[in-house]
Amino acid sequence: MSKLPNIGTNIFSVMSKLANETGAINLSQGFPNFPVDTKLTDIIKQKADQNVHQYTPMPGSGELLAAVSGLIEKSYKRQVDTNLELLISAGATQGIFTTIMALIETGDEVIILDPSYDCYEPSVLLAGGTPVRVPLDLNFMPDWDLIESKTNSKTKLIITNNPHNPSGRVWSESDFEALETLVSKNDQMLVLSDEVYEFITFDQKHISANEREKLKNRSIITSSFGKSFHITGWKIGYVVAPEHLMAEIKKVHQFNVFSVNSVAQACLAEYISQTDVFILGEFYKEKRNLFQQLLSDSNFKLAPCQGTYFQVADYSAISSESDVAFSKTLTIKYGVASIPVSVFSANGQDDRKIRFCFAKDNDTLIKAANKLCKI
Ligand SMILES: Cc1ncc(COP(=O)(O)O)c(C=O)c1O
Repeated sequence: MSKLPNIGTNIFSVMSKLANETGAINLSQGFPNFPVDTKLTDIIKQKADQNVHQYTPMPGSGELLAAVSGLIEKSYKRQVDTNLELLISAGATQGIFTTIMALIETGDEVIILDPSYDCYEPSVLLAGGTPVRVPLDLNFMPDWDLIESKTNSKTKLIITNNPHNPSGRVWSESDFEALETLVSKNDQMLVLSDEVYEFITFDQKHISANEREKLKNRSIITSSFGKSFHITGWKIGYVVAPEHLMAEIKKVHQFNVFSVNSVAQACLAEYISQTDVFILGEFYKEKRNLFQQLLSDSNFKLAPCQGTYFQVADYSAISSESDVAFSKTLTIKYGVASIPVSVFSANGQDDRKIRFCFAKDNDTLIKAANKLCKI
């Protein structure tokens, strides 16, 4: 008996393992390979000798909650009540899992827009809910008529992810207006807004559910310090929700995690005021531009990339293999690991596209591009 009979080892672990075994350049899993800011590593050294090693309050340390609410106010002009509306989570993954466990009941339907990040559906299934997977259009943008056609009185939640993994697409004002119209027609419907790449947009400013008057009181918003501060291994992030929803989320959190790693919280509480997250977009824009320019003479066709640190590439001019097979061939034969895009969709839709992670030092990107240009 299995509660998740159709779930195996996820593709990120599979491709990273294959990259390690074959010595391929790993552009598959989404993590940076460059050093962490020395300001942060200095803080870690100082904190080691301080009184930061015991449980913090369950929702998070007062210092970190205050620092995060300051960041939200600066970014979106929203004043979050740190006692009632904010929670420090063990990464966005735990924030998402805990939210779904707290709010989804047997029979509730949850709309997931495909291609989608892999932790959404298993969380819904474990909560007894029914995932309703709705494809994005061929440009990875929402088809609001299609989404509305999949919505009914049982639809409890829609999970949105903007900026979007794997596509790197960023939603516009009209997408938010359409989402607001949709929830206004469905009183029971909530929004789980996965904004882990909130600070990584290139040509347009990220629109957050935090700044939408019509969404704020219906939305649970999650983000990840792993993405914002190049520390994915720390597994720490936060959740924002209106008081009545947060009260339920905290009930689950206290038995799922209780309190998140105290040393990480102490370090970040201090670091947030010493760093400028608003330069992150520019930092990754340079990497996107470099990677795109390096691949401009290759046989890959690059999709528009407006945010995140992922670049989708169409390889149909190179091979007719399935994207899963091609990713393996690319790793084993050509020495570059990627992620096939079809694995992010319930229907396995294979448009001969793979995803590269460009959160890598320039030397790695140049070496990878040299290999990719020879194919
Ligand atoms: C869209 C999306 N959501 C959530 C996560 C998980 O974030 P965390 O590592 O903080 O759990 C990721 C990580 O890659 C992601 O891409």
